[in-house]
Amino acid sequence: MRHLMSPLDFSVEELDNLMDLAADIEANREKYAHACAGKTLATLFYEPSTRTRLSHEAAMLNLGGNIMGFSSADSSSSKKGESVSDTIRTVSCYADICAMRHPKEGAPMVACQHSTIPVINAGDGGHQHPTQTLTDLLTIRSLKGRLNNLKIGLCGDLKFGRTVHSLINALVRYENIEFVLISPEELRLPDYVRVDVLDKSGVSYKEVVRLEEALPELDVLYMTRVQKERFFNEDDYIRMKDFYILDKNKMTLAKEDMIVLHPLPRVNEISVEVDDDPRAAYFKQVQYGVYARMALILTLLDIHVD
Ligand code: NCD
Repeated sequence: MRHLMSPLDFSVEELDNLMDLAADIEANREKYAHACAGKTLATLFYEPSTRTRLSHEAAMLNLGGNIMGFSSADSSSSKKGESVSDTIRTVSCYADICAMRHPKEGAPMVACQHSTIPVINAGDGGHQHPTQTLTDLLTIRSLKGRLNNLKIGLCGDLKFGRTVHSLINALVRYENIEFVLISPEELRLPDYVRVDVLDKSGVSYKEVVRLEEALPELDVLYMTRVQKERFFNEDDYIRMKDFYILDKNKMTLAKEDMIVLHPLPRVNEISVEVDDDPRAAYFKQVQYGVYARMALILTLLDIHVD
């Protein structure tokens, strides 16, 4: 039985196969419409979510399966003090696969050790968010046609942004990737990613504070929100929250074929006036997220459609 805790749980070849499957799903939706008939996905969300929970559910429904779950810790027995390991033992009796989001780093890992069904990490604290990474890789591959030879700018809250941590882990395995890390000093990428992943892999990267300085050279700009819920102090959040605002004016500095991604939700960091720019790809990214999760569910349940 396989789980998905980190993007590194799949080899590059397995990721290629998963993205090929997602592309086939996009092209032939009806072929997969009953692939998961009789199977149930449970979504166990101890933290707020719109896209991640609903896209897992949409993915299972598109595959002809069923869904169940809870969307806040308050509406589950966790409120009464139940442990994650007891909850997952219980859910293993009801469902065939589950996606879990939790504010504590490592909670989905604890779950998978007590589970008899595949567990998908749908975001654990400031740590990892592997299904967003599958979404991001599929979006870049579909829109840029490649996952190598790319200069990628990661902008915003690189300290707490789990989508950035997972994406870096995944992308260092491709050829000729360069990163530009764009953040204020206080929100720099933590050492456990910068030193342990970037330095170790020998990938080329630089850190800058000004977005304007980085923009002209990028193939992909990945914007992120300042992660309010991970700040200890409200004043620090207020000081940081509008540090970057991508607007029409700044977009004139970017290449004609750059794409702008964002895991969403957006707060102020991308002005709505950018939405009409053909380079704005963050809502296409939402759609790719459904295909990526359909491919993931089929892969973890080992279901093959001819
Ligand atoms: C992200 C998350 O939850 O980490 N959202 C998402 O799943 N698409 C990004 C964020 O909340 O800023």
